[in-house]
Amino acid sequence: MSLPKHIAIIMDGNGRWARARGLPRAVGHERGVEALRRTVEAAGKMGIEYLTLFSFSTENWRRPAEEVNALFGLLRAYVKRDLERLKAEGVRVRIIGSRENVPADILELIGKAERETEANRRGNLTIAFNYGGREEIVRAARALAQNVIDGALLPEDIDAEQFASVLDTSMLPDPDLLIRTSGEARISNFLLWQIAYTELVILDVLWPDFDGDHLAGAITAYQQRERRFGALAEEGRADG
Ligand code: IPE
Ligand code: IPE
Ligand code: MG
Repeated sequence: MSLPKHIAIIMDGNGRWARARGLPRAVGHERGVEALRRTVEAAGKMGIEYLTLFSFSTENWRRPAEEVNALFGLLRAYVKRDLERLKAEGVRVRIIGSRENVPADILELIGKAERETEANRRGNLTIAFNYGGREEIVRAARALAQNVIDGALLPEDIDAEQFASVLDTSMLPDPDLLIRTSGEARISNFLLWQIAYTELVILDVLWPDFDGDHLAGAITAYQQRERRFGALAEEGRADG
């Protein structure tokens, strides 16, 4: 099978990585940013067109304020430090998720990163920040309901394509491969709509230890899968 066009990653295990070393959780998150940087670079070199990374969920607000602030600080630092390089490499940056409760300076930074890279075509990096799949679907439903009230849309004209067009991911193809690190076999409210037929690869590595070899391994596992999309397998089709 060919290379996945779109890879999504649930970057999990920063806390456990730190705990195993007797370090504060924030240090695990810092090392997680280094893994993120390595992964963006490795994916680019491999020719992956779309990379989508889960960095903060709408449920992560349940963590202590100190940790939430540390995560916000790391996003700020990442965009400030890496934007020029991403621009130079021709990567288009998008941030998906709710803008609600996000500090104003981060909203500004996000806007700047999106604006300054919108003409880029050599790769697509999407950061899911303050993102929750259910929240995204609810927001989409509200947008469609408003269109109906405004007389711009009839309820019977709402179909899957129309629905997808009001999601945050309207500009992205559905992920072909979803990787989750740290061994947890759950989705944790990531891309619920979009992963209907995505191949899932769960790795035991903790996110701060993730590197290009893990990415290559996950791609190889993906290439050994047979995607059916509800139809018959190749051999089933052969016997008619
Ligand atoms: C992933 O690591 C980063 C975020 C969820 C923001 P965790 O912080 O969830 O690490 P664990 O799962 O506690 O090890
Ligand atoms: C998912 O990881 C969110 C991110 C990676 C940003 P969590 O660590 O929040 O998920 P749960 O709580 O283990 O399901
Ligand atoms: Mg976790």
